[in-house]
Amino acid sequence: MPSMSAADNDRTPVTVLGLGAMGTALATTFLENGHPTTVWNRSTDKAEELVAKGAVRAASAPDAAAASPLVVLCVLDHHAVSEILDTVGDALPGRVLVNLTSGTPAQARAAARWAAEHGADYLDGGILADPQDIGTSNGFLLYSGPQDAFETREATLKALGGVTTYIGTDAGQAAVYFMALIGVGYETWISYLHTLALVGAENIKATTFAPFVTGMFSGMNELLTAMARATDDGYYPPDAGPLGVHAALMDDLIATRQASGIDVERLEHVKSLIDRRVAEGHGADGFSSLIETIGNPST
Ligand SMILES: NC(=O)c1ccc[n+]([C@@H]2O[C@H](COP(=O)([O-])OP(=O)(O)OC[C@H]3O[C@@H](n4cnc5c(N)ncnc54)[C@H](OP(=O)(O)O)[C@@H]3O)[C@@H](O)[C@H]2O)c1
Repeated sequence: MPSMSAADNDRTPVTVLGLGAMGTALATTFLENGHPTTVWNRSTDKAEELVAKGAVRAASAPDAAAASPLVVLCVLDHHAVSEILDTVGDALPGRVLVNLTSGTPAQARAAARWAAEHGADYLDGGILADPQDIGTSNGFLLYSGPQDAFETREATLKALGGVTTYIGTDAGQAAVYFMALIGVGYETWISYLHTLALVGAENIKATTFAPFVTGMFSGMNELLTAMARATDDGYYPPDAGPLGVHAALMDDLIATRQASGIDVERLEHVKSLIDRRVAEGHGADGFSSLIETIGNPST
């Protein structure tokens, strides 16, 4: 007979405010894990499916917030968060408010101050997963805020994703990690699309070329770690070659893309960063030395 974990025994009542694609996935997962779940959404029809599965629909956001010790908020953006928080303040004392709406570190820190003034513990979270990943091993959620509040509610929150990571006490830090990671995502995807446009211009199918890119990425862990170490140390050995070599290669890459009529604006920016660093006498440094220019754009 399988042994029961703390999470198996956890039946903490939970409220979910916001039932878009993500809020619905969160509420569904809480219900499936046996939590009495109260839900509220601005447009009431979105609660119907959840009510049919056993959720309780609250008549208002304050009623919903009052119903559970753990209140999870997941709406479009911080404007929506502000509108909802304006109405629920009196219902929050003694509760843990977990805001899983994406936002900036400054917005998270402001919400934490607001929650403290209203007697609630505030955890900010970032979701690096699709709604269909919630409740599975692919669910990746980051949290920051008071450690005791996280630990008290950790068993419940772990139901949402296989990778549930507590970053630290500063409420803004989960958003820092979240924004940093989605930045890697967006910049990688746009670079990938430029690359697929290039091979497409040569009549090479994207699916034919994709394995070369995935293979290159799967071998990149060591380089990424070395670049992080160089950044921490402020010492930039020639990772993937010295900047002087990158400068020459970059000219050829720009020419190749231009010949196929592909946008080179971002590459020209990268080239200008390299040129500036080389001109400053750092041509023997590695690519990671560009961080000195990125973090200091006006000088
Ligand atoms: N979907 C994803 O793949 C994904 C992945 C990672 C993170 N996230 C994050 O999860 C959050 C929610 O995303 P989602 O996919 O659930 O978005 P969504 O499907 O577009 O739903 C948006 C939700 O916000 C509510 N809302 C918008 N403005 C409001 C306001 N002024 N007052 C009250 N409620 C308001 C909507 O209510 P109505 O139904 O009344 O319009 C709806 O419940 C976002 O911050 C997003 O970045 C989403």
